[in-house]
Amino acid sequence: MEAINASIDFDKRFYAQDIAGSKAHATMLVAQGILTAGDGKNILEGLDTIAGEIEEGAFEFSTILEDIHMNIENRLSDLIGEAAGRLHTARSRNDQVATDFRLWVRDAIDDIDASLMTLQGVLIGIAESNAATVMPGFTHLQAAQPVTLGHHMLAYVEMFGRDRGRFADCRTRLNESPLGAAALAGTSFPIDRKMTAEALGFARPAANSLDAVSDRDFACEFLSSGSILAVHLSRMAEEIVLWSAPQFGYVRISDSFSSGSSIMPQKRNPDAAELVRGKAGRVIGSLNALLVALKGLPLAYGKDMQEDKEPVFDAVDTLGICIAAMAGMLAEAEFDKARMRADAGRGFTTATDLADWLVRVAGIAFRQAHHITGTLVKMAEDRSCGLEELSLADMQSVETAITDEIFAVLGVENSVASRTSEGGTAPANVIAATAEAKKRFLK
Ligand code: ARG
Repeated sequence: MEAINASIDFDKRFYAQDIAGSKAHATMLVAQGILTAGDGKNILEGLDTIAGEIEEGAFEFSTILEDIHMNIENRLSDLIGEAAGRLHTARSRNDQVATDFRLWVRDAIDDIDASLMTLQGVLIGIAESNAATVMPGFTHLQAAQPVTLGHHMLAYVEMFGRDRGRFADCRTRLNESPLGAAALAGTSFPIDRKMTAEALGFARPAANSLDAVSDRDFACEFLSSGSILAVHLSRMAEEIVLWSAPQFGYVRISDSFSSGSSIMPQKRNPDAAELVRGKAGRVIGSLNALLVALKGLPLAYGKDMQEDKEPVFDAVDTLGICIAAMAGMLAEAEFDKARMRADAGRGFTTATDLADWLVRVAGIAFRQAHHITGTLVKMAEDRSCGLEELSLADMQSVETAITDEIFAVLGVENSVASRTSEGGTAPANVIAATAEAKKRFLK
């Protein structure tokens, strides 16, 4: 029983939140005349002593005492005697654990938000110095149209910005205090739930006591937001894996974020990126574990709910290390601009520019322009040359309206420079977008 029942090995992680909750509760009990001032003072001092002992590593956690709540209360009674037993008046471990966990997840959200901002800062920095760095843009993993590296980096800045928004939404809904819901039905003591809510930084007390002790939506929302973030990190990691492979050769990962092979001296493996990609599975698994644990639970509390913590702890640790690894890896990454530039022009990536020119300058309908361009691509393919290497005469043999002005849109630089529509890849847009991103995200 002790082995299956105890949660102390993991819930000791929120000792600080448990002590903060108890201090708020004791202070309120005194203010309401439920506890004497003397008992209240002893309880607060005792709790501070315990916080110090835990921080110094001097506290002895016991599995017989099951969880963090009983470990602390037991120690409090060693320290101050009988008054310790009065702390639990008008409270239950059910509202206590719900309060502690909310406070802990709230802190975790604040940490993740700060680290995502750091990551966005790194990406914006790369975008700023590569607003005009041309690379292939892909669809179906085939070079489609040239884009700029800065633009590509800013795409991830948007994704992480939405992640931060999702965590912020979760934080807003999470920020209601379960404390005072007691076991499930409320209490007959004249408590002041607004007072404890305020002391703990909650916006208000949770409205329904049954819901307050049984709701774990905040953990589900946290893990949902975390899973989407993990997917974003994984997609980015996948691009680093691809781009750092010699076949692409767009980026060189620093020694500190890659490893050699024990038998193949030529290899340079993007381990950190692969681990970020791999760890997404853990975070998504944590979300799944919690949803499945909750789905059959009748109101209000059931011990199954003790299973809510480890998935969240693991996800927080995993996301923390993945965000840090990504930021560190990108900050030290070296991009091979020449290689990306050369690749950007391969595979007729400016064919769309040619078709657009026929529409814009020669007044040809887009469908027809598409057809003419297809014929010219075929011609260039047969001669194993680029579109820009066809002569004007060759082009005019297909469409007489073509003039030598067409060559101005066939280079990759011209192509990206022309993509000035809102949200487009033109260097001028990217420069403006980095300034805008700084204002939106780095504050
Ligand atoms: N360790 C428990 C948990 O994490 C605390 C709540 C226990 N409540 C109870 N009624 N047994 O869920």
